[in-house]
Amino acid sequence: MSHHYIQFTDVHYSYPGGYEALSGVSFRITHGEKVALLGLNGAGKSTLLLHTNGLLLPSKGEVNVGDVPVRKKTLPLVRQTVGMVFQNADDQLFMPTVADDVAFGPRNMGLPSDEVDRRVRRALEAVGASELAARPSFGLSGGQKRAVAIATVLSMEPDILVMDEPTANLDCAARRRLIELLSGFGHTMLVATHDLDMALELCPRAILLSRGRVAADGPTGALLADHQLLRSAGMEL
Ligand SMILES: Nc1ncnc2c1ncn2[C@@H]1O[C@H](COP(=O)(O)OP(=O)(O)OP(=O)(O)O)[C@@H](O)[C@H]1O
Ligand SMILES: [Mg+2]
Repeated sequence: MSHHYIQFTDVHYSYPGGYEALSGVSFRITHGEKVALLGLNGAGKSTLLLHTNGLLLPSKGEVNVGDVPVRKKTLPLVRQTVGMVFQNADDQLFMPTVADDVAFGPRNMGLPSDEVDRRVRRALEAVGASELAARPSFGLSGGQKRAVAIATVLSMEPDILVMDEPTANLDCAARRRLIELLSGFGHTMLVATHDLDMALELCPRAILLSRGRVAADGPTGALLADHQLLRSAGMEL
């Protein structure tokens, strides 16, 4: 249970070449919270998410997942706790079939094959994609790929789900199904999105990033109703 939170403490990150994309980010997400990460293109949302499971490590400051500091040597533990769904599902799907893709993580963890099978079945069921198990991943539609990409993460049974723009490029029916699916999850969740309606519906709390800093952190409804705040972050509708 102690692993179910994420804490950022004064996190700075500069990309090779020197551009500082995060400039002192601090927040804590506790067990069971669903939090939207909002901000304009280039605000630093994806950069921040990549820090939650150590795909990027801070130039300064610290990220903790529960009582585990995110460091090179803690990455295997951190990645069992934090599951990341990338913005582009194609980055997550590379095996011959959907079932193989969903089995990839659990197999890599060295789990016995009956446990791997059980996890694949449960994860595909959870995203409503059981009937796709034998299909090649590359032939799926965008919405199906998104569902399967989420299943590849669920099969690792992470405590915390991190998603980068999960509703991008989905039609309204697929978007609706995804929102309902995510609403039903008990996971701690951090979701970067430009879909403000989804943020409002799914996430009671939102963090607004502006130029690599936290411009606001609070109830999503109040944040999205604060026109002065949104204007200052360049986000007024
Ligand atoms: N690999 C990289 N090398 C150098 N700079 C980068 C790299 N990736 C991102 N950046 C810069 O870091 C800043 C933050 O980018 P990031 O992708 O985190 O923004 P974002 O909020 O996710 O934007 P979007 O809404 O467009 O996805 C941007 O100015 C971007 O140009
Ligand atoms: Mg991004």
